[in-house]
Amino acid sequence: MKPKKILVIGSSNTDMTVKADRLPAPGETILGGTFSMGHGGKGANQAIAAKRLGGDVSFICKVGKDSFGEMSLKKYREEGIDVSAAMYSECPSGVALITVDAGAENSIVVASGANGDITVEDIRGIAPVIASSSILLMQLEIPVEAVIEAAKIAHEAGVYVVLNPAPAPAKALPEELFKYVSLVIPNETEISLLTGTEADSEETAVQAAGMLKAAGAKSVIVTLGSRGSLVCDGAEPVVIPARKVEAVDTTAAGDTFCGALCVALAEEKPMMEAVKFATRASSLTVTRMGAADSIPFRTEVENIN
Ligand code: ATP
Ligand code: RIB
Repeated sequence: MKPKKILVIGSSNTDMTVKADRLPAPGETILGGTFSMGHGGKGANQAIAAKRLGGDVSFICKVGKDSFGEMSLKKYREEGIDVSAAMYSECPSGVALITVDAGAENSIVVASGANGDITVEDIRGIAPVIASSSILLMQLEIPVEAVIEAAKIAHEAGVYVVLNPAPAPAKALPEELFKYVSLVIPNETEISLLTGTEADSEETAVQAAGMLKAAGAKSVIVTLGSRGSLVCDGAEPVVIPARKVEAVDTTAAGDTFCGALCVALAEEKPMMEAVKFATRASSLTVTRMGAADSIPFRTEVENIN
């Protein structure tokens, strides 16, 4: 069977990562880190994950007219991703400065640049591309008005809309958005901020997921890092545990999870099977340094036990 089309609309960044013993305190300088530069951005990572894991993927992003933007588009084409509807901005391409500590914890600052320049008009201009996809996957590293417009167009065309509300929004999202969303995939911090509640236990996370469902979302999966994920899809919430691995850098774990899940759903796998596939895929990501560089291919996921 030919896989259904997955469209990712989101950010494209160049990631500058330093691995250090620990994250610096405000005002502190730490010596002894190691530097690497790679492809990143939540949108790009999710598109790359979906493609490497077997999806038929298009990616719509906006980059600057600079070498970082060109390198990013070249990379996406090399991965086999359709970027024919990607756009250019007068702003510089997005950059993320990442620090990773010895325990695989990270802190990230993003200079959004061109990502922040995606407008509602841009989205209206690509309405036919959105309407002709089967699954639309988005995050919050581009303006929320653009995300809402894309979700609305997709919803009206019968497209399955998946929202990874990352990074955690500074303020509550317009409730309208959840009317257009089929599946929301937040982590615990994100769902707490989205609902204005403290989702720090299974019970409170289930309650918070219920609030997103009441706002219109059909299904909610709360990712719990090394503890796995909480699936609120059918009648009873279910926790799918993470694989036990030695984590070195968790950057893009959530992105791999989202991309993988969309691939499995595009192949019409049942939700629990899709979550197990996403769990296996993201467990590999955390064992490697970097964002896009750390995302596994399908054969690697199929070959783990
Ligand atoms: P990030 O922002 O670091 O990309 P996130 O906060 O969006 O991640 P997480 O909940 O940390 O998302 O991770 C997503 C999924 O990745 C988890 O549900 C889990 O299956 C897997 N995962 C994350 N961390 C680990 C780990 N240390 N060991 C094994 N699996 C992990
Ligand atoms: O989710 C990981 C991504 O967040 C990184 O690649 C970085 O670019 C930031 O956007």
